Order: sequence, then structure tokens, then C-alpha cells
Amino acid sequence: MQIHSNASLRSYHTFGIAQRCKFLVEVSSVEELIDIYRRPEWQSLPKMVLGQGSNVLFTTFYEGVVIINRLKGMTVSEDSKSYRLKVHAGEDWPALVESAVRQGIPGLENLAMIPGCAGSAPIQNIGAYGVEFKDVCEYVDYLCLETFTVHRVSKDECGFGYRDSVFKHHLYQKSVVVGIGLIVSKDWMPQTRYGALCHLPSDVSAEDIFEHVCHIRQEKLPDPELTGNAGSFFKNPVITTEQYQRLKARFPNIVNYPQEHGVKLAAGWLIDQCGLKGTRIGDAQVHPNQALVLVNQGNATAEDVIRLAGHVCSRVYETYGVSLEHEVRFIGAEGEVYLNELLKKECDE
Ligand code: FAD
Ligand code: EPU
Repeated sequence: MQIHSNASLRSYHTFGIAQRCKFLVEVSSVEELIDIYRRPEWQSLPKMVLGQGSNVLFTTFYEGVVIINRLKGMTVSEDSKSYRLKVHAGEDWPALVESAVRQGIPGLENLAMIPGCAGSAPIQNIGAYGVEFKDVCEYVDYLCLETFTVHRVSKDECGFGYRDSVFKHHLYQKSVVVGIGLIVSKDWMPQTRYGALCHLPSDVSAEDIFEHVCHIRQEKLPDPELTGNAGSFFKNPVITTEQYQRLKARFPNIVNYPQEHGVKLAAGWLIDQCGLKGTRIGDAQVHPNQALVLVNQGNATAEDVIRLAGHVCSRVYETYGVSLEHEVRFIGAEGEVYLNELLKKECDE
């Protein structure tokens, strides 16, 4: 286990922003993880686990220990009805999906090409093209940071919602995900309800859906290897039906997805309609083709991204009266911070 001091985080997150941390360490076993959390000399330091950094923005120097998840390993088992995958948290999610599809294990294909570690997938209940992690999850194993023992929570105990789970609430800062259990039925049905997939024929194969999703994603989303980004920067806002009716009267084309409670709007559409595609502050830019993604066009600073995100939120609020919430997790000097707090601080100074 190598410990790096004053380490650069540039290659550990997909925004590609130059930022450093006090200590960085890569862990490949639960024992190493426990050792890090128990070290007496690091007791007073903040600590955070990072997968592939594809959903974070480091807003400043991190005054603590960044723990890179390298817990590897996977086993597959089957019975007459299902396949079960037991996956250690540091496995690469997109590689896992591709390998399952290629081996003839269907069920994960809609979740192709979502960057990150398998163990990060439950944190925000990753989702795309009509399927969410919750649809394939059987259980999640986490290290409890109070008892230093591994606990298992069933899918129903995970409190999954849209970009949400128990790991953002009750188990926030009290747990590190160390493994996941996936279950997919052998009685597979293609999931093609999502707009971009609904033209596919009813006898489409899982491999065809996989290829199709990869193709759409490559067309729509910037490749973080080439242009720094963290995927959708904001969540799609869910508003009340009454608020939606008022907006619909003013903006008849507003993109909407009715939910059990309220209506979800497409934040990308709202931002796009405000004419913000391509808007740039420093080297941070609203992606010219997909307005929900903020990109680093080279040497963006965290301040550039924060100011741009603030500008986008203000414009959307002024136009539609809808508040956007960032999906990307902002990491400050000692832990998680939020855009509103940062903008308020900027105003106060
Ligand atoms: P990180 O960014 O490293 O971590 C994210 C958060 O989880 C941090 O707060 C971190 O502290 C915490 N965390 C990480 N690992 C653990 C752990 N083991 N235990 C406890 N906490 C942990 N997301 C979607 O849902 N759907 C998409 O379609 C999608 N498309 C994307 C496309 C692109 C191009 C990019 C860059 C991102 C996209 N994302 C998408 C977001 C991202 O892929 C997911 O959020 C992913 O699950 C993040 O994984 P990660 O390993 O990079 O997590
Ligand atoms: N749209 C525009 N202009 C834009 C972008 C989008 O008008 O610049 C419109 C589209 O035409 C479409 C609607 O907005 O009518 C939705 O767009 P899209 O299908 O591209 O999906 P999204 O809402 O932008 C969400 C997820 C993605 C996920 C895709 C596919 C969120 C915050 N984002 O994006 O997840 O891959 O659906 O399911 O829910 C992520 O979370 O990082 C992410 C990329």
C-alpha cells in the first residue's frame, strides 16, 4: 500500500482539473481500508473513498486522505432461473457490463458505458436508457465505519430513488461500499421503453441493445479521455403537477416525464432553451451538443466550473422558476460542499 503526500488528483477524476490532496492511497483489500481508517496519525484527518472520479468536482485542495478503491474480483453463478454476479467494489462498471453481455448474460445492457467503479453504482443508483442499478441489484456489502465490520443490505434496504440511495442519507459518511450482488433473470425481456430505444424491434437481442446504447452515448456525450467532464452536471428536476401545468401553458414544447409524484423535466432542454449551449467561463463550457454536461476545454479551474454552474442555475431559475440541483458531488477542503454555499461565500467576500 503506497502513500502519496501532496498528491495530484488530476488523473484520478474525469474533469481533469488540477487539484491536490494531503494524502492519497490506493487500497486493494478491506483490511487495508480498515487500516487507513484506524491509523492513529490520520485520526483527525477527513477521509473519502474515490472510485474513478467520474462524478466529482474537487473545488480546492483536499486537506485529508483520498482513498482510491482498487478492490478487485468477481464471481458468476447461476441456477435455473437467474444469473448472480458477486462483484468487488473496485471492478470497472462498463467493463463488467460488456463482459456480461458478451458472455450471454443479459440484463445489464442498458447500463453500458456508464463510467466508474461497480461499488460506486449504488451510491447514486446509476441509471440510463430506462434501467437503473436498482433493477439489477440483489444486495450491497459495505464496511461500517463505526464497527469496522462488513454488513449486507438487501436491495429493498438501499432506499433507491432517482440518483439517490441510503448511502447519501442514513449511511452517509458511515459506510464504504466494498461489494455488490447483481441478479438478472434468465427469462430476459428487452427494456426498450426509453425514447431513443423504442424503435427497436421486439425480438432485439441484449447484445444489439448494448451496441445501440454505446452508439448513442458515443454520439451524445463527450469522452472524458478527450474532454474533461463528469456526465450530467445537474439532475433532472422533479416539480409538482401544478407547477408543470403552469409551465406547459407558457412553454408548450417543454420535455416532461410524468412520475408517480409530480413531473420530471429535462434539465438539458431547459438549459438549451435558455440559449446556454457553448457558454464559456474561462475554460469551463456548457457542452455545445448536450447542455446538461459541463466540460473542461483544457485548463478550467474549479472556480470556472463553479461560476459557470451558478450562471446556468440563475438563468434557468429566472426563465422557468425551477431550481437545478447538481448531481456532481463537490468536494471541498474537508468534505462535501454544495454549489449554493460556494456561491454565497463568493458573494459575501
Ligand atoms: P466517484 O466519482 O469516484 O465517486 C462518486 C461519489 O461516490 C463520491 O462522493 C465518492 O466519495 C462516493 N463513493 C465512491 N465510491 C464509494 C464507495 N465504495 N463507498 C462509498 N462511497 C463511495 N451516471 C448515471 O447514473 N448515468 C449515466 O448515464 C452516466 N453517464 C456518465 C457519462 C459520463 C461521460 C461521465 C463522466 C459520468 C456519467 N455518469 C452517469 C456519472 C458516473 O458515471 C456515476 O456517478 C458513477 O457511478 C461514478 O462512479 P465513480 O467510481 O467514478 O465514482
Ligand atoms: N435535450 C435538449 N438539449 C440538450 C440536451 C437534451 O433539448 O442540450 C433534450 C433531449 O432532446 C431530450 C431530453 O432533453 O428530449 C433528454 O435528453 P437525453 O435523452 O440526452 O437525457 P438527459 O436527461 O440529458 C439523462 C441522464 C443521463 C442518462 C440519459 C439517458 C440525468 C441527470 N441524466 O440525461 O445520465 O445517460 O438520461 O438515460 O438523469 C448522468 O447521470 O451523468 C447521465 C449522463
